[in-house]
Amino acid sequence: MTSIQIRGTGFPPVAPEIETFDGAKAPWMSGFSEAYQTFLQRQVDRDVEYVPDRILALLVASAELVQGMQVTQLEHGLETATMAERAGMDIDIVVAALCHDMGKVISTPNHSAIAAEMIKPFVSDDAYWMVKVHQDFEGIHYLGKIGVDPMVRLQHRDHPAYELAERFADEWDEKAFDPDYDMLPLEHFEPMVREVFSRRAKRPEHWKPLAAAH
Ligand SMILES: [Fe+2]
Repeated sequence: MTSIQIRGTGFPPVAPEIETFDGAKAPWMSGFSEAYQTFLQRQVDRDVEYVPDRILALLVASAELVQGMQVTQLEHGLETATMAERAGMDIDIVVAALCHDMGKVISTPNHSAIAAEMIKPFVSDDAYWMVKVHQDFEGIHYLGKIGVDPMVRLQHRDHPAYELAERFADEWDEKAFDPDYDMLPLEHFEPMVREVFSRRAKRPEHWKPLAAAH
């Protein structure tokens, strides 16, 4: 059981409707008036306030995921984050470590990409990349046992965050399956999760300001 208070009911936690638009609404996007589009943007901005609750809800849900391991996926994330924090890493890396496997709540085969894209607008580029490629780096510890080249990480050898990703996989992620490890509880990380996912979300890099587009 957790003492964390998650706003909203069920999943996903949703922002309550507090505003309505009384003007004309075209039923297709290109027909939306500027006033309606501005109204919609306010609703989106309000909705983004619920991202920390949704991330926490996903993490809580990962306590149900065991997949034959000796620890739940929530415990695995807590151990990984605890090790990163004890190694003196910054908040982005600690939160990324906590969230790195939460994509498994949806689908394990490409869980790295799922989790990475969920955290991308809110964390540093290094934290995002570390999560995105962590299956490739983790491969050295198990892929050889299922008939796959375990050195798949080498394709990333020229990336500036290569050493960080190596450290993540070899010192924390790989070690975080120990039912006896004194991991910190989710309540310890909750303020960090709320801080990181309350940041103003970055837009995709290839979205240019209107004036600079052409
Ligand atoms: Fe992991």
